[in-house]
Amino acid sequence: MHEFRYVGGQLHCERAAVAALAEQHGTPLFVYSQGTLQAQYERLDSALAPLDHRICYALKANSNLAVLRTFAQAGAGFDLVSGGELERVLAAGGDPSRCIFAGVGKTEGEIALALRHGIYALNAESEAELARIDRVAARLKRVAPVAVRVNPNVEAGTHAKITTGTYDNKFGIAFEEVEAVYARAARRRHLRLRGVQMHIGSQLTAVQPFERAVRKVAPLAETLRARHGLEFFSIGGGMGIVYRDALASGAPAWWRSAAARRLVTPARYAAVLVPLLRPLGLKILLEPGRFLVGNAGILVTRVEHVKRTGRKTFVIVDAAMNDLIRPAFYDAYHEIVPVRRRGGRRRAADVVGPVCESGDYFCQDRPLPQVREGEYLALMSAGAYGSVMGSNYNSRPWAAEVLVRGGRSSVVRTRQAVVDLWRGERLAAWQG
Ligand code: LLP
Repeated sequence: MHEFRYVGGQLHCERAAVAALAEQHGTPLFVYSQGTLQAQYERLDSALAPLDHRICYALKANSNLAVLRTFAQAGAGFDLVSGGELERVLAAGGDPSRCIFAGVGKTEGEIALALRHGIYALNAESEAELARIDRVAARLKRVAPVAVRVNPNVEAGTHAKITTGTYDNKFGIAFEEVEAVYARAARRRHLRLRGVQMHIGSQLTAVQPFERAVRKVAPLAETLRARHGLEFFSIGGGMGIVYRDALASGAPAWWRSAAARRLVTPARYAAVLVPLLRPLGLKILLEPGRFLVGNAGILVTRVEHVKRTGRKTFVIVDAAMNDLIRPAFYDAYHEIVPVRRRGGRRRAADVVGPVCESGDYFCQDRPLPQVREGEYLALMSAGAYGSVMGSNYNSRPWAAEVLVRGGRSSVVRTRQAVVDLWRGERLAAWQG
């Protein structure tokens, strides 16, 4: 569900023509729809209305300040994984007392920063970390609110690199050990056991893995609440989105497709989980990232050349793996559409960037409308884990980002200047 569609043969983001944005701001360009961000948040929030709940947006998915401000104004808390993310939330006007802090390797400095800002909870992923949090809190003469991340050992049925809830992963504390860990943590003077947390993986497209994990961990949460007076149970993020036919998914026809009928939606998620969670009497936290932002953004790129070799057609564009690494890293599929709609025969092509790596492609042998130099393409569903996973590889400056609301647009990240690429670098003292 999103607000990208063709109007008069031109791709629009809400009421703004994407080609005009590309002309004005250059490419590669991330374009975000604020209406989609808000609508996704509201869909999830209203589906969960029967629960005492809080949505903590996992800002690792997209941490642009304008995106954070949008969710802060909608009433979200945030799920953070570094001191840098906490500083971003503060810069965007977010409330740290509605934030939780995850991650297997929080430094003492990050823990202290979070405690000083009155974080809602630190989610600990090991006993060593609980000991460290206790120590830092003692030094600050505070009591640290904590939760333990439970590893429920449940298969999430997603890509191996984004599965987090099995015993092959580094995350959390094994289900069987959790009760004893809480008992020992309860004896630490500077910890307050506030909740329990889990997260089994990302881009989960079915509701069953969520259900299996909640069925397994809910009784434990109930026991821990009774013993230690816990206040919340965070069931993590992971709700998947449509990547294939993402553009068509804005249209009613999409709902008739088989994939769409099976896809996890807020309504299906809530229908299964609310009855399991409500009797617990705990505040339920969610940590969605991709669901809130994924379909709300696209990456616009310009065709530089169309190169035909004996075997293949390569559409060489000005975006590359440094702008959007998901296809190279996870073999991820992103729908690619021309910004100006094109009819005619489709031809199999590889859309590739200019980076000197064979892995620098956005698709391979995909039937695409035939395009020419100077035309714009849109890589759909690039709002999550797009710009945030960017790099300066090959000394390519960071792409610009634009937020659209209705017919208005605003640059929310300026294109990085080339001289900024080596800001902070210097010659060694002996190099003159
Ligand atoms: N909570 C925790 C503890 C997490 O580790 C994650 C994601 C989330 C919430 C948010 O998950 P989401 O709702 O976005 O699925 N870069 C990969 C995804 C990595 C996800 C890492 N953890 C990708 O591009 O697919």
